[in-house]
Amino acid sequence: MKTWLSRFLRSTEKPYRILGIGGVHHDANAALIEDGKVIAIREEERFTRVKKQSGYPARAIASCLRERQLDLRDIDVIAVGSFSFSPGNFAGDLLHIMNNSKELEISKIRKKMIFVPHYFAHIASAAFLSPFTRSSVFFVEGGGDYLATVLAIVNETDIELCKVFRLRSSLGYLWLLICEYLGYRPNFDEGKVMALASYGEPKYLHLFQKISPVDNEGNFEIVVYDKNEIFRLFNEAGLSQRRKEFEDYPAKPYCDLAASLQKYTELVAIRLVRQLYQFDQRYGRRSEGLCITGGVGLNSVMNGMILSEGPYKKSFMLPMMGDNGTGVGAALFVYHCVLGRERLSPLVRFSPYSGELYNENKINEAILPNNVSYTMPKNLLDRITELISEGKIVGWFQGRSECGPRALGNRSILADSRAPDMKERLNVKVKHREMYRPFAPSVIVEKAQDFFEMDGEVPFMLRVVRVLEEKRKLIPAVTHFDGTARIQTVRREDNPVFYDLIVSFEKITGIPILLNTSFNVAGEPIVETPEDALKCFKATDIDVLVLGTKMIQKKM
Ligand SMILES: [Fe+2]
Repeated sequence: MKTWLSRFLRSTEKPYRILGIGGVHHDANAALIEDGKVIAIREEERFTRVKKQSGYPARAIASCLRERQLDLRDIDVIAVGSFSFSPGNFAGDLLHIMNNSKELEISKIRKKMIFVPHYFAHIASAAFLSPFTRSSVFFVEGGGDYLATVLAIVNETDIELCKVFRLRSSLGYLWLLICEYLGYRPNFDEGKVMALASYGEPKYLHLFQKISPVDNEGNFEIVVYDKNEIFRLFNEAGLSQRRKEFEDYPAKPYCDLAASLQKYTELVAIRLVRQLYQFDQRYGRRSEGLCITGGVGLNSVMNGMILSEGPYKKSFMLPMMGDNGTGVGAALFVYHCVLGRERLSPLVRFSPYSGELYNENKINEAILPNNVSYTMPKNLLDRITELISEGKIVGWFQGRSECGPRALGNRSILADSRAPDMKERLNVKVKHREMYRPFAPSVIVEKAQDFFEMDGEVPFMLRVVRVLEEKRKLIPAVTHFDGTARIQTVRREDNPVFYDLIVSFEKITGIPILLNTSFNVAGEPIVETPEDALKCFKATDIDVLVLGTKMIQKKM
């Protein structure tokens, strides 16, 4: 009886709800967790349609609350992933949020707000969503709340900062500057610089070692910090600041500069990860794996090198490891480190598909005013793979959107990985982006090693690996010119529809790999709603659009 009663009382207990807010300076986002379980992660850019949207994430918060039909009174704590350059600026962040939160009842909110230092929000998101009970965390970014690089060990819910580096030890700052020097948007186009790097030689590595000397353990500090001074050093080496943003193939010296930065980044990163491993060795019990977090962690070439040459065999990296993950990180930090609640079972696997759900009604509402005709093929997956194998480009919209900047099979543009001209067609007709940027393959996890030099899995497209030499000619659309690929391995349990689509493609072609790129055009965020998908479909040369079970084809 007593057992029954306690079970009944437990079942009527309200879950403990934390709303996380982060990315006030860029990548604004919100997240809802209930009893430590992630219910929603929402990025403001998806709703405002402004990439890397900053400020107070009003629409992302509204979307989180909508998920459970809640209002702010139902929230127990609001956790804010802070972003300040000095501890005293917490007040500045608070003011910023309040000035932008007209619809919130400020007096009510104030009592519930907990500010979480920026690096703790990053570290908490990586470690607490990882499958590891004990993890080594490498946090690497531009900087926030005084720190730019941190080596940490997280054991259950205890976070130990083994080594912290202040803002003068910032790889993110160097990337930001080189972005600007190469004519790109700082804090925006770092991925383009990474792509350029593969075309160059690290001829200017010595300049980076002069700007920011590094010792054998990876400890580094920028001694030439002033932007103009740094640019002058490059100019003296025979370069000049590039002004042109869009150009198919920039001149070789610019590629060399990008390659030098990439090499420097890898040099620092591998040494720091080895140092982190040394910290871990001090304990009897070792970490189960390495977590990489912070904006520089989006450098999938660096990650590939760390994992192939570094001491850690297992790794975990979140798709939203930039500031777009600091909302959920702050919420998890409060739940585990402030409230002292236990971790969930390590068997609870993180799902990136944490966006809003658009059901058939919503899809119908989007289609209706557009006056387009659709079909609902019985064997939709077979029909789509048939079209892809004939060279058609498919806009693929299914279920909840994936968080982070990479398409993971729910908001994707899909194409034939075997087609030699596909990269050019996609770049010119759909994505409107630079020709030197590669496209990524999605492969079913069981077949990954048949095509790529790798072990384990890469579920979130955050690691570059080598394509097996004898397989490169089979998948030219997703093999970069240097023989590498930024892969996504797909497990059926994570995304059954996408997995089955790739299997269906394999049945027709013998290749278990699709080209997968984000469903958007250059400069825009990934599509969120069915309306966004239709708009992108109409504005580009995408041949076929799939919205759930409905298929729309452009008339030839
Ligand atoms: Fe950050």
